[in-house]
Amino acid sequence: MKQIKQIVASLLFFGAMASPLSVYAEKGIEINHLGINNTLVRVTGPSRYLLLPIQEDAEEARVRVMLDGEVHQNLNIRLARNRVDYFVPLDLASFKGRHVMLNIVTSQNRATLREAKENACWKDMKLSDTFDTTNREKYRPAFHHTPLYGWMNDPNGMFYKDGVWHLYYQWNPYGSKWQNMTWGHSTSKDLLKWEHQPTAIEVDGLGSIFSGSSVVDTANTAGFGKDAVVALYTSCDVSQVQSMAYSNDGGTTFQRYPGNPIITLESEARDPNMFWDNEAKQWVLTLAHALEHEYLFFTSPDLKEWTLQSAFGKGEGAQDGVWECPDLFKLKVDGTGEEKWALICNLNPGGPFGGSATQYFIGDFDGKTFKADTDASGRIATKWMDFGKDHYATVSWSGTSPDRRTVIGWMSNWQYAAEVPTKQFRSANTLPRDLRLFRAPDGQVYLASAPSPELTALRGNMTTTVRKTSVGKQTRTYSLPTANDGICEILFDLDCRKADSLTINLGNKAGEQVVLTYYTQSHTLAFDRRNSGLKDFSQDFPAVTVAPTFEDGKKVSLRIFIDKSSMEVFGDNGRFVMTNLVFPTTPYSSLSFTSHGGSSKVSNLKIYSIKEQ
Ligand code: FRU
Repeated sequence: MKQIKQIVASLLFFGAMASPLSVYAEKGIEINHLGINNTLVRVTGPSRYLLLPIQEDAEEARVRVMLDGEVHQNLNIRLARNRVDYFVPLDLASFKGRHVMLNIVTSQNRATLREAKENACWKDMKLSDTFDTTNREKYRPAFHHTPLYGWMNDPNGMFYKDGVWHLYYQWNPYGSKWQNMTWGHSTSKDLLKWEHQPTAIEVDGLGSIFSGSSVVDTANTAGFGKDAVVALYTSCDVSQVQSMAYSNDGGTTFQRYPGNPIITLESEARDPNMFWDNEAKQWVLTLAHALEHEYLFFTSPDLKEWTLQSAFGKGEGAQDGVWECPDLFKLKVDGTGEEKWALICNLNPGGPFGGSATQYFIGDFDGKTFKADTDASGRIATKWMDFGKDHYATVSWSGTSPDRRTVIGWMSNWQYAAEVPTKQFRSANTLPRDLRLFRAPDGQVYLASAPSPELTALRGNMTTTVRKTSVGKQTRTYSLPTANDGICEILFDLDCRKADSLTINLGNKAGEQVVLTYYTQSHTLAFDRRNSGLKDFSQDFPAVTVAPTFEDGKKVSLRIFIDKSSMEVFGDNGRFVMTNLVFPTTPYSSLSFTSHGGSSKVSNLKIYSIKEQ
């Protein structure tokens, strides 16, 4: 009451310019404007969350969160200026009993103090004991992993232990565009249903928490305790350094290693990815020397002291953009006892269809040095893991059995990830995939990414089954399931030896369609999303992507997953894959086949509806 009287008095006597306290004090929030672009917000009420109003196209304000007068965190938040798109919560639970104050520096371009004071963020900022995370998004996938709210990019730091798949991810808890990188955390017992866990590692004095990896230190080499989960990640502020954190509760909460950073270089390097080399009895770390287009290999006995051993990549494979998010592991070549090493290399831009993509190298690793295989002409071939536009930052889970290598990727592209038509959240991860190596007809070893075996449990009713049918110029059409907004899995085999090409059309009532075309002569499959639905949010979105099918002109079998805003096409059990986002205004409802230049055979067609997870 006293405060309100004070405000009224100051408004009467000095006008708004001289108001010592904001008019919002009754909400448990005290706002003191210190000038056109500098404001103090004191939280005086006892609630769980401070809800911050966001305007996606507003400039970022610098928000210093202070506890008892000491800086706790530095954040960058698009606080609303003249429109509120949504709210994000600042969780006050762990600040209980402390004085919470935000020092907010907004951009310079307010003309007067009066204008600055009228910004929507001050009026609409509020305290609340709840934060509504009910899904409000038409395009939120139903069986892919997404964050509860906010922006997500790379999956990283994943490990598997005691039947639980831990998935950490690059997360902005304060908006649906990239910023304030922390490690979000989700867990799953079946790779299908994901449970959201508390934030694992938050922005600290060394900067934001970029991508990295985690291992279970069973032999306690680092001294943090037997079975401690040890995470290495990049701390990013003005420069990038490598840091360490460990968890003694199975990956839920992490303590930072007091001696951080543990690796520093004189140039940009990030995304440390480590594994235990059982032959050399040491840890091996691959680090992306991003601007040099190379990866660096380090070894360590204890995860803390790392020795640089070698580098690989300069001048090899796709060299555009930056090299990021490496992964290195050994696998058997299908049908042989031969073992080869695969080095995953995510690069951006420079992908085959523009923007982000994942290339890989097959070769040998002797504990210190990676040597890539060469083709018949003596060159190191450029190989792609996925021939769509929306497959990036793909890395594997540590801790699975030695013969299982499961990966997951970020299902977007840096070209337009921040513009896709969602708001409450941005970006999903791909379906999990299990990797194999196979020798193709050209004699080279390639990586196959098949849908993880767990995914068959997604199947609901089989809505269509056709054993065999011949397709000519006359189009054959089947209905797609309508339940759960049309989410479904489609399987069929193609024999197009007598035709020039076959088109497979997935369309809806609004005339939007994805057109897949198999070309017999080139053995390629094209994915055309130029008329697939919403597309004008970015000039880089409309596209045709093309995959080589690695077959020798016989049958091709396709397995397609559709989940509201994505389509993943797996060919021949993952020998070729295309992952593309699509935003149909209404779900695709029909599947049709048309053969050109001769007839084709379609067999073993099965369409399954999918249960909401
Ligand atoms: C890849 C990447 C990583 C980095 C992270 C930051 O998408 O640029 O190199 O660690 O995103 O969010």
